[in-house]
Amino acid sequence: MADRVIIGMTGATGQIYGIRALNLLRETEYESHVILSESARITIKQETEYTPAELEQIADETYSVKNIGAPTASGSFATKGMLISPCSMKTLSNIAHGNAGDLITRSADVTLKERNPLVVMPREKPLNRIHLENMLKVTDAGGIIMPPFPSFYQHETDFDKMISRTVARALSLVDVSVEFEEWSGLENEVVQ
Ligand SMILES: Cc1cc2nc3c(=O)[nH]c(=O)nc-3n(C[C@H](O)[C@H](O)[C@H](O)COP(=O)(O)O)c2cc1C
Repeated sequence: MADRVIIGMTGATGQIYGIRALNLLRETEYESHVILSESARITIKQETEYTPAELEQIADETYSVKNIGAPTASGSFATKGMLISPCSMKTLSNIAHGNAGDLITRSADVTLKERNPLVVMPREKPLNRIHLENMLKVTDAGGIIMPPFPSFYQHETDFDKMISRTVARALSLVDVSVEFEEWSGLENEVVQ
């Protein structure tokens, strides 16, 4: 049954995006299957109030990044797709080059080969040519690059809602809908 979403969290800044994805998925019928990289464990402690173990408890299932025999490493394990949130430039590079040496990159590789949505939320600034080329490679392989940039046209001042809106948008790319206001357009705003 494809009622599972894989969440990979790597050592980039923006752990809040992965945590929010786990929390939003709890409000749905979908199961979250989380994998934390070794570096994510460091960044989580630096950026959040959670310990990695507490964070893993939000998820339905959790796997060690070293366990390349975990269910998500196989295409026979049906999922809606995978979110990598946040995605470091190292993990992006490994995915772009098919280096599937840990469970996050292996699961991403499997997601691409099974033609399921792979949503990569890269976090770095500024970007060098290598980063940009790797994003293009992942896009060419069928992945979706979704930088976690906030939008401003809703005049949102609540940081928390901004995060939720961005993550809800990312989840919609794996065909999981969570509640957030759709943009209904501007009325009669025509450029003369
Ligand atoms: C606090 C902190 C913030 C970091 N932010 C970023 C980042 O925004 N982007 C990035 O590519 N790497 C960042 N890094 C470095 C990665 O964690 C590092 O390259 C690591 O090897 C990535 O491994 P992983 O992809 O297996 O998690 C950060 C590291 C720390 C400790």
